[in-house]
Amino acid sequence: MASPHGAQVLVASNRGPVSYTVDESGSLRSRRGGGGLVSGLSAIGSDADSVWVCAALGDGDREAVRRADGGLLPAGDTGGQRVRMLDIDAAVHADAYNGIANSVLWFVHHMLYQTPLEPVFDAEFRRQWAAYEAYNRAFAEALAEEAAEGAAVLVQDYHLCLVPGMLRALRPDLRIGHFSHTPWAPPEYFGLLPDDVAAELLNGILGADHAAFLTRRWADAFTECCHAVLGPGAVPREVGVHGLGADAGFLRKRAHEPDVDERMAALREEIGEGRRAIVRVDRTELSKNIVRGLLAYRQLLDDHPEWREKVVHLAFAYPSRQDLAVYREYTAEVRRVAEEINSTYGTPGWTPVVLHVKDDFARSLAAYRLADVALVNPIRDGMNLVAKEVPVVSDEGCALVLSREAGAYEELGTDAIVVNPYDIGGTADALHTALSMPAGERAERSKRLGAAATALPPAQWFLDQLRALGRAQSS
Ligand code: G6P
Repeated sequence: MASPHGAQVLVASNRGPVSYTVDESGSLRSRRGGGGLVSGLSAIGSDADSVWVCAALGDGDREAVRRADGGLLPAGDTGGQRVRMLDIDAAVHADAYNGIANSVLWFVHHMLYQTPLEPVFDAEFRRQWAAYEAYNRAFAEALAEEAAEGAAVLVQDYHLCLVPGMLRALRPDLRIGHFSHTPWAPPEYFGLLPDDVAAELLNGILGADHAAFLTRRWADAFTECCHAVLGPGAVPREVGVHGLGADAGFLRKRAHEPDVDERMAALREEIGEGRRAIVRVDRTELSKNIVRGLLAYRQLLDDHPEWREKVVHLAFAYPSRQDLAVYREYTAEVRRVAEEINSTYGTPGWTPVVLHVKDDFARSLAAYRLADVALVNPIRDGMNLVAKEVPVVSDEGCALVLSREAGAYEELGTDAIVVNPYDIGGTADALHTALSMPAGERAERSKRLGAAATALPPAQWFLDQLRALGRAQSS
């Protein structure tokens, strides 16, 4: 049923634009996030009627939904954006989010399994899969309630693959888009999933008018999976490629605020006078390949002792998905390898690896500004915005060592130093080449990287998808 007061544009994502914590006095504190969707929705203007549907992720969020009487969150907390947060049963959400989305779908698309022992699709998996279906259904029902006749709905990511199909069945009048922010697995790897689950996921997304991806490579992999699993006749209504870019205006302004300057001074002290900086900034995420990055740096110090005392590796690895044991173990391994390098090579005046694990956006921007080399070496990545942000923010120009498995490689490959992320020796060589690059060439390349990185800023990225949906309906 279309709501008479329904929205014309709807966004659905697991994580919303605001989160809540309850402080000691029992008051709710809200915190707003950023990112492409936030910029996109603000770009359509406040008179456009829009609503964002998301899930409550923690106790603070659940309390906020209760206080909002299950409806829309207070506009003061959301910067005026209408946000409907869904209080899905905590156990169902945990099974859908941690169990299926982050431990199965994320692993499949990033090809992270150690296949001799995993995955194991047993009765426990089936129980979690039922939770994933229920969680997707809760989103589909909320969207069906909130949408005006003929509204456009932009469904986000691997958490919500079933929503387009479910929503189409409930509301055939809507124009539905689905956007995958991750890579898409090739058919041989996607085929690890049980056949019925693989088919359900693909059919879910095929319910959309426009199935969109960050690069051509992921879009093609999706189409190949449709053919392999559902048969050659299974074709998406429309597949789109929208390569989300960096927000140059925001980044350059934010990177010159006083808190960033303060952090630059502190980092300069940690690096030491006259030394080069190899910078990486990531969530501590299995796919980011932080450990091999450290091993490559160690190899560089072995192969090229002339860099000892002359370079520091600033590695910012911010906590992520710490509910999952394998992420906690990976975080511990990052620390262990960093400490090992420091104890093997460090000298009284030189700490080879400076590892920071506490999330600090201003410090990340400070590191971007002073980076001589940015190391972005994921095993596989939907896009990787760090690769796009560093050249935009860097003061003197920065050489980019970039994995060919990152989505950003499609746009930045020409001016980056490209690596196979598994090849430690090759990555060490690339770091040496990057450190040795003459300043003029580095600045030139950085300028071209910056231009390519900002070709599709977030607001435009969002509007392009809305436009594509308009096209999808009229064709
Ligand atoms: C990264 C990925 C997105 C994903 C998000 C979820 O940003 O690129 O595809 O939606 O992580 O992160 P979360 O912290 O919400 O699990």
